[in-house]
Amino acid sequence: MKTYLVTGGAGFIGSNYIHYMFKKYGDGIRIINVDALTYAGNPENLKEVEDRENYTFIKADICDKEAIARIFAENEIDRVVHFAAESHVDRSIRNPEIFVQTNVLGTAVMLNCAKAAWELPDGSFREDKKFLHVSTDEVYGSLEEDGGYFYETTPYAPRSPYSASKAGSDMLVKAYMDTYHFPANITNCSNNYGPYQFPEKLIPLIIHNALNGKKLPVYGDGKNVRDWLYVEDHAKAIDMVQEKGRLFETYNVGGHNEKQNIEIIKIILETLQEMLPENDPRKALVSEDLITYVEDRKGHDRRYAIAPDKIREEIGWEPETMFKEGIRRTIEWYFAHEEWMAHVTSGDYQKYYEEMYTV
Ligand code: NAD
Ligand code: DAU
Repeated sequence: MKTYLVTGGAGFIGSNYIHYMFKKYGDGIRIINVDALTYAGNPENLKEVEDRENYTFIKADICDKEAIARIFAENEIDRVVHFAAESHVDRSIRNPEIFVQTNVLGTAVMLNCAKAAWELPDGSFREDKKFLHVSTDEVYGSLEEDGGYFYETTPYAPRSPYSASKAGSDMLVKAYMDTYHFPANITNCSNNYGPYQFPEKLIPLIIHNALNGKKLPVYGDGKNVRDWLYVEDHAKAIDMVQEKGRLFETYNVGGHNEKQNIEIIKIILETLQEMLPENDPRKALVSEDLITYVEDRKGHDRRYAIAPDKIREEIGWEPETMFKEGIRRTIEWYFAHEEWMAHVTSGDYQKYYEEMYTV
């Protein structure tokens, strides 16, 4: 039975990954989830699995060397899946330092502790140990509206403090692979959406605001393009890369699902109208009149688009969830989890929202 050490498993993608893995492997794996529970980490995301005998939660900071080394010393870890990061671009523009701390230094701690636990006296590594570093397409920079895709060979050109810190963490993983032959992979994925996403990110923010008749803030001209992937497809890709990918390789993950932000907002509004029952009072609130153009994000990347050829050809991964279906599933999930939304939007979120969106 393999033991997975998942970092950042109480966040959006990490918690979806943990649900996916238990659905797929049941009692056949053990998962240890290490999360510092920052504003983005929410134990409610894992309520359904917290009583499982093969699941353990440890509250710890990935920058805390002693805590992470202890986890490796006390457990026979076979797989590391490293999600933990500061993940929101707007926050990185306001407060870059924590991004360097968590994303760069935290990754260095994870790599060092895994290396120390897995390395043999001759410098080789114990058999079948693997580290997967979860990264982003933003490390490749910004594409022209009509030009090209991100390939694994595209030179790094990060443009925000967030993407620069993720690029730094990727470089550290690459350095460990090159210098020590450390058994790792990197995945660079496009924008995810789905259940449990914190409403500072575009899709849950728009769903939440529209249902409450609040303004829908659109940065700049609304024509920036993102390549959207349903989060469960990302979870599946991570598992497939770890089990079927070639060690030391990078795999881009994305679904050829490019959409302008304004298109996304209009699709959400239309889908909400279709899904809300006639007698639901929120139906009258959901309207394009809420769309409000606001000041652009500083250094706003124009377009991201992944070429997923390598992962498809080598591993056989392809996205399964079409956007139309994925967005309905996502909205259904938010309908069914009003309490979750009420909890995460109380307290600190209010303060963040006011600072971010009140001019
Ligand atoms: P998230 O912000 O929802 O979750 C991050 C998690 O990491 C939270 O649970 C938080 O508590 C935890 N964390 C933060 N700092 C920590 C620390 N110092 N020690 C331990 N835990 C800490 O992020 P997400 O959207 O789920 O992204 C997860 C990973 O996937 C990140 O590495 C991100 O760069 C990458 N990624 C995200 C997307 C996306 O669209 N969201 C796309 C591609 C890649
Ligand atoms: O591409 C992968 C990346 O996608 C991940 O690495 C990041 O962790 C994740 O946050 C996401 O980054 P983006 O900046 O693309 O996502 P966000 O949801 O913040 O914004 C999506 C687009 O919508 C972007 O062009 C900015 C715009 N936007 C966002 C918000 C929050 C708005 O127009 N209004 C908003 O209020």
